[in-house]
Amino acid sequence: MQPLQIEDVVKSFGERRALDSVSLELREREILGMLGPNGAGKSTLVRTMMGRVSPDSGSVRIFGQTAPAGDTESRRAVGVVPQEIALYPLLTVRENLGVFGRYHGLDGSALEESVNKALHWAGLTDRAADVTKTLSGGMKRRLNIAAGVLHEPRILLLDEPTVGVDPQSRERIYEMIESLRERGVSILYTTHYMEEAERLCDRIAIIDHGRIIAMGTQEALVSQTIGGAREIVLDCDMAPGAAAAAALADRGASIDGTRIVIRAEKPAETMAEILAVAAKNALPIRDLSMKRPTLENVFLHLTGRELRE
Ligand SMILES: Nc1ncnc2c1ncn2[C@@H]1O[C@H](COP(=O)(O)OP(=O)(O)OP(=O)(O)O)[C@@H](O)[C@H]1O
Ligand SMILES: [Mg+2]
Repeated sequence: MQPLQIEDVVKSFGERRALDSVSLELREREILGMLGPNGAGKSTLVRTMMGRVSPDSGSVRIFGQTAPAGDTESRRAVGVVPQEIALYPLLTVRENLGVFGRYHGLDGSALEESVNKALHWAGLTDRAADVTKTLSGGMKRRLNIAAGVLHEPRILLLDEPTVGVDPQSRERIYEMIESLRERGVSILYTTHYMEEAERLCDRIAIIDHGRIIAMGTQEALVSQTIGGAREIVLDCDMAPGAAAAAALADRGASIDGTRIVIRAEKPAETMAEILAVAAKNALPIRDLSMKRPTLENVFLHLTGRELRE
């Protein structure tokens, strides 16, 4: 039985269809990325999964049970970290965690132990007594995440947990999340940063205009949409002369001053040909690279748009 199963979920707000027949499953111990641009429907889907939004049709099942069942057990099974920071600014860090712990039915020494564990996990032990509004943005984000996992849920829904966070805190958050997966938590990770999805997620669902338009491992998404093609980029110290330019154009290159870009179905062969042209024409190479297609390329290929428009 999968931790979370969404089937044919439809949700409209007035005329606007925010979710259009969305189906997906979150598997045991995976980080499933949900990648999509602003307004794609990510938060609406997360809020549907946690029972905050009731779908017009379709079903959400948590460990096989129709959600929201409303009972304490299914509430305990799911942890949520909302997109907006949801903390009490005037309470201390420790008091905030206390509030969230009690909400999930913890108290006494069990609560204290969970709070101490969460503080340690989030790297906030030495800030426990500080008033929350005095924390840095990255620390607030970490506390926001800690508040969502304090009760050790088996499923965690994270809605863009690194927005506005500097790269160092971001890396720390990735490590926190990976340690949860190692503990057996199944994680849905919503983001519009493709680097993040690539770095962290076992599988990725791409969502656009309320629809899941592709789902799979990064490798599968790339090979299904783009195939084996690679982009070879050659930077030269000077623009290629007429003979070199003609030879490169014959191989499908586009030349922009000193920069030459070639899309290659057979990258090894094309690379060898380019190097031969450069050698023959004494073209001084400054930099030569071959890029693996990214999820950005996949998104562009599927939608005709950039992920960040
Ligand atoms: N409560 C609401 N009332 C009316 N429209 C809403 C409501 N919530 C969401 N929408 C609309 O549904 C669509 C999807 O919004 P949603 O917040 O789910 O997108 P998102 O993918 O989370 O975007 P972002 O990356 O900006 O957070 C948007 O067009 C939004 O305006
Ligand atoms: Mg959102």
